[in-house]
Amino acid sequence: MTTSMNAITPVSEDDPAAAGPCFSQAALQQVEQIFRRYPADQRRSALLPLLHLAQREFGGWLSRQALDYVAGLIGLAPIRVYEVATFYTMYNLKPVGRYHVQVCTNISCWLCNSDAIAQALQHKLGIGFAETTPDQRFTLTEVECLGACVNAPMMQINDDYYENLTPETAVAVIDQMMEVSP
Ligand code: FES
Repeated sequence: MTTSMNAITPVSEDDPAAAGPCFSQAALQQVEQIFRRYPADQRRSALLPLLHLAQREFGGWLSRQALDYVAGLIGLAPIRVYEVATFYTMYNLKPVGRYHVQVCTNISCWLCNSDAIAQALQHKLGIGFAETTPDQRFTLTEVECLGACVNAPMMQINDDYYENLTPETAVAVIDQMMEVSP
């Protein structure tokens, strides 16, 4: 059972990209590199990596304006981008905290006690799945298999995997992050 965050957020004044999102020069160079991977008439194939790049560039999530910006870069109708962004749960369509804690509760992890890990993290952070702490530091998300079943149970925080977890070691990881950036 996974809590979905895949509904497009309407444009609002709180949207960091409200003024119109635009990639940095460095990101635009990456866009060119990504486009070079595909035939010139198949630019739409670059959509997934461009959405990842946009998510990284625009604060860890994709606003509707960010999706429109990516559509413009590729030359796709925005609806084509919405279809993809709402299908894949790795695209965050709402703001997430500085640390995005994604807990796998799929079969291998579940058999290895992921429920206890999820409970311990919820208790530690004082939030449930699909919620963010009031200080905007942690977002907790329940996810499907992240491909690390051999070392289940596991969680992903931003770009890093934490494997062979127990409730105690999972909470210790959070403690470390709280100390590093109070
Ligand atoms: S089931 Fe959790 S990583 Fe595969």
